[in-house]
Amino acid sequence: MVSQVVATSREKVCKTGPIVLLGAPGAGKGTQARKITEAYHIPQISTGDLLRENVAKGTSLGLAAKAVMDRGELVPDQLVCDMVAKRLLEPDCAQGFILDGFPRTVAQAEWLDNFLNGKLFEGHPCKRMPPIVIDIAVGYNQLLRRLTGRRSCPTCGRIYNIYLQSPRVPDVCDAEGTKLVQRKDDTEEVISERLKTYERQTLPLLEYYRTKGRLQTLDGDRDPDQVAAQTLQAIEHGHRL
Ligand code: AP5
Repeated sequence: MVSQVVATSREKVCKTGPIVLLGAPGAGKGTQARKITEAYHIPQISTGDLLRENVAKGTSLGLAAKAVMDRGELVPDQLVCDMVAKRLLEPDCAQGFILDGFPRTVAQAEWLDNFLNGKLFEGHPCKRMPPIVIDIAVGYNQLLRRLTGRRSCPTCGRIYNIYLQSPRVPDVCDAEGTKLVQRKDDTEEVISERLKTYERQTLPLLEYYRTKGRLQTLDGDRDPDQVAAQTLQAIEHGHRL
């Protein structure tokens, strides 16, 4: 008789290890994270989405983050790291996960390395697997076009662009029929601040991961499917680094 084995999250094998998507605001991290989720069936953990959920619910984290996000600056490292720690310990992360928008400072990257190797992650199938780090590089003018043209579906989260990836019916989600919305921080003034914040606080991260031999940079100026093909290749290559 064949005995049935019910796998718990602890017994699962980590399929990909942690995947870190880096890139400026509008580089296409969210778009590519959704494609990786479809290919590998692992969750997308977007710190921007988690923070916006907290703002919408009016939690204490949301109250602390709102004004900072409205200005296009970064939420303090400790608040974001605590939020990520809680999320990574949920059972759906057992086979791997995609970090979209995290880390964003060298301090966050150091925290992540310690967390993945530390006590709280003991017994997790992805423990001690070094992250696969993918930087999506896109030129400045293209970033501006992507951010000012972005619209998303409040029901399913699907992302569109009025200039580059428009829905079939203007301003309506193809899948849900819901009216699309524009993010509050996608105004020209806040976009300019977000891009400055990226240069000042996030660009140094590239050097951090380059020094560790983990950084892979993709040409993000191509169309989303071409970028996705490069992304999936980088994930396969990342296992061999
Ligand atoms: P967050 O939500 O992470 O915003 P972001 O990093 O500024 O990135 P975006 O979501 O704007 O862009 P994306 O790269 O995901 O591009 P997308 O795929 O949507 O963070 C928001 C705020 O939260 C931060 O400013 C900060 O305050 C706070 N925060 C978040 N994480 C934090 C952290 N770790 N620490 C501290 N604070 C934190 O695509 C953009 C558009 O381009 C879309 O319209 C899309 O359709 C289009 N597009 C995408 N790819 C292509 C392509 N290849 N060709 C043509 N169009 C494309």
